[in-house]
Amino acid sequence: MTGMELVRSRRSVRTFDGHHLKSEDAKKLMDYAYNTTNPYNLSIDWRLLSAKVSGLSSPVIAGTDSWIAGKMKRAPHAEEAFGYTFEKIVLYAEFLGFGTTWIAGTMDRPAFERAMELKADEVMPCVSPLGYPAEKKSLREVMMRKGIKADSRMKFEDLFYSGSFENPMRVENAGNLADPLEMVRWAPSAVNKQPWRIIVDGDTIHFYEKRSRGYVSADGWDLQKIDLGIAMCHFALGLSDQARNLKLRIDDPGLSNDANVFYIASYDLEK
Ligand SMILES: Cc1cc2nc3c(=O)[nH]c(=O)nc-3n(C[C@H](O)[C@H](O)[C@H](O)COP(=O)(O)O)c2cc1C
Repeated sequence: MTGMELVRSRRSVRTFDGHHLKSEDAKKLMDYAYNTTNPYNLSIDWRLLSAKVSGLSSPVIAGTDSWIAGKMKRAPHAEEAFGYTFEKIVLYAEFLGFGTTWIAGTMDRPAFERAMELKADEVMPCVSPLGYPAEKKSLREVMMRKGIKADSRMKFEDLFYSGSFENPMRVENAGNLADPLEMVRWAPSAVNKQPWRIIVDGDTIHFYEKRSRGYVSADGWDLQKIDLGIAMCHFALGLSDQARNLKLRIDDPGLSNDANVFYIASYDLEK
């Protein structure tokens, strides 16, 4: 399966069919998780959890006992690193036939943090249920998806730009970046806000966060930077579909003069 196929077939699954995970596939997923890296080189501790054993719950998830969660040391760029890495795991879970949902808010967080043995200098940004999608979504799931328009995304030219924010990029002018950018467009994000903005400047791709109100907590943790890590993961996967490499660089080119649009990182495409 190509990265594009995985990205286009994934959707959040909140209603599961009650079957246990096939143990060999659960093992494959966790082996993959333990070995997955991110361009920030931050390490993340992944665990497979049982709701029954650890007393876990989420008001939006039904029909599975299995969860995956990750924790890491608080550090600069932890959000992007977590987003990048967990999305790789989510897409591998999709490949194995598991349904997932990124969950940052709608869970019994203290119970998950206890199960993860979270220490004072650590953060557990998100968790996901793991299981086999039920044939029929619960009414709650149907209503949730409608409420956040989960089946649609913003237009290409409202997200991506050429050279500067003055020049919206149309998909037909994106050349061989059309697919990687389309994969960013279809990425999951908290409340489907799609905060990523991208400027393509020759062989350099600059990622920006268009920040919405209410996603940065008092200690500076920015949930939407996780979405940016997911976007970077999808872009990199699109490039690997084309057997092309890229390199991360953090070097603000000073192209944003919108007070709500923040520079995150750049990728240099390797020839
Ligand atoms: C960082 C992040 C946090 C999320 N937190 C929640 C959550 O707490 N509860 C929930 O039901 N969905 C959550 N979601 C799932 C999004 O609502 C979902 O990805 C988005 O609506 C797009 O739908 P799709 O994943 O089906 O494409 C989260 C997604 C991301 C990326």
